[in-house]
Amino acid sequence: MSLERKTTVYDTAGRNTAAAGSVPFGSEGPGIPASPEEEAAWRTLLALRRARLASQAGGNGSATPLEIASRDTSPAAARLFDLYLPLCAPGRRLVVGHLGQSLDGKIATGTGHSRFINGAPNILHLHRLRALVDGIVVGAGTVAADDPQLTVRLCDGPCPTRIVIDTNRRLRDSHRLFNDGAAPTLAVCAEDVLPVGEQRIGRAELLGVKRSGDWIDVHALLASLAGRGLRSLLVEGGGVTVSRFLAARALDRLQITIAPVIIGSGRPGVTLPAIARMDEALRPPVRRFELGDDVLFECLFEKS
Ligand SMILES: NC(=O)c1ccc[n+]([C@@H]2O[C@H](COP(=O)([O-])OP(=O)(O)OC[C@H]3O[C@@H](n4cnc5c(N)ncnc54)[C@H](OP(=O)(O)O)[C@@H]3O)[C@@H](O)[C@H]2O)c1
Repeated sequence: MSLERKTTVYDTAGRNTAAAGSVPFGSEGPGIPASPEEEAAWRTLLALRRARLASQAGGNGSATPLEIASRDTSPAAARLFDLYLPLCAPGRRLVVGHLGQSLDGKIATGTGHSRFINGAPNILHLHRLRALVDGIVVGAGTVAADDPQLTVRLCDGPCPTRIVIDTNRRLRDSHRLFNDGAAPTLAVCAEDVLPVGEQRIGRAELLGVKRSGDWIDVHALLASLAGRGLRSLLVEGGGVTVSRFLAARALDRLQITIAPVIIGSGRPGVTLPAIARMDEALRPPVRRFELGDDVLFECLFEKS
């Protein structure tokens, strides 16, 4: 697999963003050893994750993330810290959405096939995100289509809790993540479809959450997860789930990684209620990172 970077990124005025602040990000990918500097930076990030959890549990974090990160000033470390340090800040609740999509805004074909829209560097990026958060959230559509494992396999790090939103309990109990015991797993449904005393689907725990109209109340879900110590979350798809979090203003960051491929039909990424005018569109501050041939746009919605 060639990981040579061919993409040139242009801003909306057509300028090459080498001059406009696009950040090239790593040439590594699954199966390709990271450089010693990247390995060292990644170990630092995992240590910061442990320090965050210790401080959440009331322990005494020995050093702040910035103190630790500032000891490593290699360019490889700077790139990793730029993207991942926010996930290591203690005491902070952070909800990050991610979608990998085509140039024409699709996250899967009409049959639900989505492997692989993005290249290897973005897949490694997803595994790194997983390793740093407390929980990964996906919708029932993703479990039905992909039967995913949602574990950390391409980098060192712990597997976070897996959280599946299955409002009306349409999923079968035979899906892999309900049975493999690879990580703690929660199946979230509307509380009105959870009979008293029923606690499990496969080996996963059932969690009833109140509805808001036809949907699970996203903020009630976040509060329930925070009560279990799950404060940093990756909302990994699909399009409906990420869109519900975005519509509820529950995302601090939304990462959309765009691959140079045109699908031409299929399942959409973000869908929100219709607007009439462009001045009603969301235009958050955005950071850009090159991930091999893909470009990651990170939209910043958090207040501070
Ligand atoms: N390219 C990528 O980044 C990426 C990532 C993940 C998945 N995918 C692909 O995306 C496709 C699935 O995406 P999708 O958009 O169709 O479905 P999805 O987002 O995975 O699941 C949507 C379903 O999840 C439940 N749900 C999610 N949030 C909810 C909320 N707040 N309240 C109530 N229910 C909620 C609902 O289930 P009910 O309908 O049962 O009520 C909803 O229909 C698959 O083909 C998968 O391969 C792509």
